[in-house]
Amino acid sequence: MNYITKKGALQKACLSIVILFFLQLKGFSQVQNVPVNLRVDNLICEYKINPISVDAANPRLSWKLITTDRNIEQTAYEIRVGSNAVSLTKAKDIIWTSGKVLSDQSVHVYYGGPTLTSRQKCYWQVRVWNNKNQVSPWSMVNFWKMGLLKPTDWTAKWIQNTYQSDTTGGPSPMFRKAFILDHKIRAAHLYITAHGVFEAQINGKRVGNDYFTPGWTSYNKRLQYQVYDVTSLLKKGDNATGVTLGDGWYRGYTYNRRKDVYGKKLALLYQLEVVYTNGKRQIISSDKSWRVAYGPIRSSSFFDGEVYDARKEKAGWSEPTYRNLTWDTVKTDETIKDNLIATSGPTVKKHEKFLPLKVFNTPEGDRVVDFGQNLVGWVQFKLKAKAGDTIKLFHAEVLDQKGNFYTKNLRTAKQEITYVFKDDSTTTFEPHFTFQGFRFLKVVGYKGPLDSTNLAAYALYSDMAQTGKFSTSNPLVNQLQHNIQWGQKGNFIDVPTDCPQRDERMGWTGDAQAFCRTATFNMDVAGFFTKWLKDLSADQHKDGAVPYVIPNVLDSVSAAASGWSDVATIAPWNIYLAYGDKQVLQQQYESMKAWVGYIQQHSRNYLWDTGNHFGDWLFYAGTNYEDGAALTDKNLIAQAFYAYSTQLLIKAGKVLGRSDDVQKYTLLLYNIKKAFLAEYVTPNGRMISGTQTSYVLALNFDMLPENLRESAAKRLVHNIEDYDEHITTGFLGTPYICHVLSRFGHTDIAYDLLMKESYPSWLYPVKNGATTIWERWDGIKPDGSFEDPEMNSFNHYAYGAIGDWMYRVIAGINTDEGDPGFHSILIAPRPGGKLSSAQAELETLYGKVKSAWSIDNGTFTLDVIVPPNTTATVLLPSVTDQITEGGVDINTVKDITDIKKTGHDAQMSIGSGTYHFVYTMKTYGKHNN
Ligand code: BGC
Repeated sequence: MNYITKKGALQKACLSIVILFFLQLKGFSQVQNVPVNLRVDNLICEYKINPISVDAANPRLSWKLITTDRNIEQTAYEIRVGSNAVSLTKAKDIIWTSGKVLSDQSVHVYYGGPTLTSRQKCYWQVRVWNNKNQVSPWSMVNFWKMGLLKPTDWTAKWIQNTYQSDTTGGPSPMFRKAFILDHKIRAAHLYITAHGVFEAQINGKRVGNDYFTPGWTSYNKRLQYQVYDVTSLLKKGDNATGVTLGDGWYRGYTYNRRKDVYGKKLALLYQLEVVYTNGKRQIISSDKSWRVAYGPIRSSSFFDGEVYDARKEKAGWSEPTYRNLTWDTVKTDETIKDNLIATSGPTVKKHEKFLPLKVFNTPEGDRVVDFGQNLVGWVQFKLKAKAGDTIKLFHAEVLDQKGNFYTKNLRTAKQEITYVFKDDSTTTFEPHFTFQGFRFLKVVGYKGPLDSTNLAAYALYSDMAQTGKFSTSNPLVNQLQHNIQWGQKGNFIDVPTDCPQRDERMGWTGDAQAFCRTATFNMDVAGFFTKWLKDLSADQHKDGAVPYVIPNVLDSVSAAASGWSDVATIAPWNIYLAYGDKQVLQQQYESMKAWVGYIQQHSRNYLWDTGNHFGDWLFYAGTNYEDGAALTDKNLIAQAFYAYSTQLLIKAGKVLGRSDDVQKYTLLLYNIKKAFLAEYVTPNGRMISGTQTSYVLALNFDMLPENLRESAAKRLVHNIEDYDEHITTGFLGTPYICHVLSRFGHTDIAYDLLMKESYPSWLYPVKNGATTIWERWDGIKPDGSFEDPEMNSFNHYAYGAIGDWMYRVIAGINTDEGDPGFHSILIAPRPGGKLSSAQAELETLYGKVKSAWSIDNGTFTLDVIVPPNTTATVLLPSVTDQITEGGVDINTVKDITDIKKTGHDAQMSIGSGTYHFVYTMKTYGKHNN
């Protein structure tokens, strides 16, 4: 072949590659060469797009089918994994191909190739076949990269400073190292973690956009490291890096001002791995050659804020030109590294920005800024003052009755930022190792104008994609949904916390249990809870007791409370339902068993009536808290949750095929219920505590025999009516009350509860200007005064658990327990509460599910989206004779099958696609239009 022909062949090849690529983009199949309306997209590995720190031996791969056709199901898939992004076809680059697998599975498909090794990068793509005999083009190529899988992969050493003053609340040490890279760089990855929290820089630039890394885990057993692709921050020649450490959760203050929970000394572990274009590698590690000094962060604490003295800044300290001659040497520490794990959950990132709504002086003369939203994060300022001037920022959630800045409910948490200016240039500043829960900012020590040009509040929370949307025709309910979402944002800071402002901020298990299911409707919390549940297993006591808080920072007796410790069974089950994730059940199964085992050990004749329980925390107590008529016997609650945990264990056992366990625990459950009936229920079905929570738990957990359930539901309704249709439940009854009412045909009463605007109710705080969910039904009392400042958070998510009912019943989006993760969907909206419309969307692992209804003059319209590779059962409420879909009688629509009437409802099956139902509604229930 002469040169000309060679060139021509090359051009031809290039052209065909371009055409192929174009065809793929356009949805043309390269196999059939005919256009198909079928693509594969949204490839994720272990819930992440292109993760670079995977430590699962067999990572799970998921993808979405994209098509506008109806009734599309996947019938087969093929995955190929290779070592080269460009070519996934050449045998030499292929790591694994699944071959054509006849299966409808498009989520959580295990990689099935050879054992993966540390740092290995795998490129992958998928194509699918559908039930219309079509094959998709190959998807775009995504990748995942393995983390450091063995302790011996870490050649870096832990380093510490030798300062006496290196104690909790002390200055932040800055570690530095200059180095030379002597070739052109192909790729560079930083593997880094700390005892404390860290911020790293390379050549003067911040590494990554995560905050409070390495995150909070049960450090002594599980310490996450982060991985960053830092190729673009490095260059051939002189380089430098620097890392600042803060106390964080490691040794910072926690409950009752306890500190040094995991250790007394901050430390850094840093391993920068550079691969040159010539294939050679160089590693820059934390070791004796590093230098350390104190800088501008004089102290930092999650509770108390930060003190920053700009006069102590070391300009250019992470750049190669900086001279660190006066810096001190470091000491190395041989701490074993077998607790290191890759970061699995989402890291904390900066999200929404709020500008000042107004700036005003309070009656007490404070200068205060209102950001309009109770949020968790910090304030960034851009101000100019004189060298040595000090500005102080204080943070509060609310103003008091008289309009003054109110911080009593923060208890001992200072939430205070102190900044000392170094000169008279304009300075932009935001804190580093702290976060505040606030809506209002008090500014002291700065007299100049304050406005949206120089102040902004940023929300910081775990980086979970917002997957759910919910709204109705009622603005108050919409504000409630807003408050639920902001309660979630503010309290999902690496772990699910109880409150983000006062001196607690811990992973209270009861709160997490109550809110978990709602959380799955608002955001993608799969990775978040999977990580936290591993810490639960790690901190669970040997006898199975689950601590009150996870990660556990309390003493050894603070464990095993009903409704709190049951998060061990409830959260894995909820994650399984929302994401069809069997692995989380597998991962937690022994922990679930151990928790049920603990209760067994502490029961007599199947009755669990010992131990310390919080009971139906913060139920409506009237005027006298402990004597409140709505007080539910704590042991009754314990017995009900004992049954529920056992029930969930049985369900998990069935999913995992543990038939011996299923048999064993089914018998146990029978005896638990029998003991419950004998101890707490009269033969006629009256409960010893005649409270809403008592009936709600008994009914929700199926504690009563069938023949007593209807009457018990009526007793619940009567109780609600006795309270003039107000809710009286606390943390444990609240998540289920409306579900129980709906299940027993009292959705109208559930709507009464939802729509109530006077205390106690969900809308009472909304009417009082809440922008988040309050800890108490009456955080601000009807007379404007506050509840006890010892326990009065304005950002607590537990009561936000109504969100689950709003999605599942008002909008009617649900998953089939037998085929979870929204693979089999139930669309069953229940209008009421004088709503003229409601709509919800949920981005599931298969794609978007939508249910949007409206009622106009008796005409009911429902718009539904069912994602590809799923099917749905639709229940249309209160139907009359003719229902149309897309303008024609449903009986003539071929995509709608199994149409039948069940009571006043019409039931039918549909496949994926978009549907538009219309019919005239029969009036039903007292709240229907
Ligand atoms: C927390 C609660 C928690 C409770 C248990 C409180 O201080 O803020 O939300 O569940 O303690 O006692």
